[in-house]
Amino acid sequence: MSFIIAIDGPAASGKGTIARALARHFGFHHLDTGLLYRATGVKGGDPVAAARNLTAEDLTRPQLRSAEAGQAASRVAAIPQVREALVDFQRRFAAREPGAVLDGRDIGTVICPDAQVKLYVVASDRVRADRRAAELGADPAAMLDQLRERDRRDSERASAPLRPADDAVVIDTSDLQIDEAVAAAIAAVDRVR
Ligand code: C5P
Repeated sequence: MSFIIAIDGPAASGKGTIARALARHFGFHHLDTGLLYRATGVKGGDPVAAARNLTAEDLTRPQLRSAEAGQAASRVAAIPQVREALVDFQRRFAAREPGAVLDGRDIGTVICPDAQVKLYVVASDRVRADRRAAELGADPAAMLDQLRERDRRDSERASAPLRPADDAVVIDTSDLQIDEAVAAAIAAVDRVR
């Protein structure tokens, strides 16, 4: 059986960085599930059809990283049929040997409720806005508003809202350097491996 590490948390909390580092450290596959929703939002037209017909090419478009794509993603992500259309792909990915790291909003709660390790990565609003603003070359105050709006939409939606799984290990990266956050995540995995 493959080993699954589920990582959830709000935007710019550091979960993507931790996910990539864990995948490298353990030699596991990594899926940034936010890309699926970003690609669906960017594709346009009927979002359910867009989610059902995503291609590998859709997942590599440069504009997927933009703040606009993030907002579009969180709007289509509230549609239950869009989420449903993306479940099988994520579960098949999670089953890849020898193991997989998936990061998103509902991995530990909905996609992989039996994951061996669940991490919930958080950071203060201010820290997250500053990080994302630096990454995208944007204004931190505007970024703060955008992140809050996106978090609110992700947390308040009826279908698979953002929340920690009951058995998730919470990592707060507000005051951690990247290597410290990664070390905390590796330690959480080593405890159960
Ligand atoms: O993680 P990222 O910022 O790329 O995610 C973009 C948006 O996609 C999130 O704000 C959220 O609405 C949605 N998403 C989701 N479930 C996931 C991953 C992302 O609803 N597993």
